[in-house]
Amino acid sequence: MGITWRQQMSVGIKEIDDDHRQLIAIISDFNFAAESRSGQIDEGNMRVILSKLQRYAREHFDREEKLQLACNYPGHAENKKQHELLTRQLDDFTRLYTDGKLGSAKSATILMSKFLNRWLVDHILKVDLKMRGMGGPG
Ligand SMILES: [Fe+2]
Repeated sequence: MGITWRQQMSVGIKEIDDDHRQLIAIISDFNFAAESRSGQIDEGNMRVILSKLQRYAREHFDREEKLQLACNYPGHAENKKQHELLTRQLDDFTRLYTDGKLGSAKSATILMSKFLNRWLVDHILKVDLKMRGMGGPG
């Protein structure tokens, strides 16, 4: 189950597609861990996955925004706003987890799984696909 890379997700720019593949890989690791440990991820593993995702998402958004600027992409300001929102959502949901507000390990895994898969789809399919046709820098 979960999300896998599909050609329809391509924005047509290799660096960005590669980043998205990497984000998908991190969330797939999460999905795999959830499924292979009878539906629950322990705190240590959860923290490792979440901090990896938080770090990588920031790097990726930054790279994407710089590329958009270099390409004079007209949606740059709007995309930047979306990135700020997505970063905040990820941080807020992670905080709910670390504060113990998502319940038992099993319930936290289910809620986190729903959140992460939706978060990724919102980013790649709703925000980034608008970049199609932007071309590359230079
Ligand atoms: Fe992206």
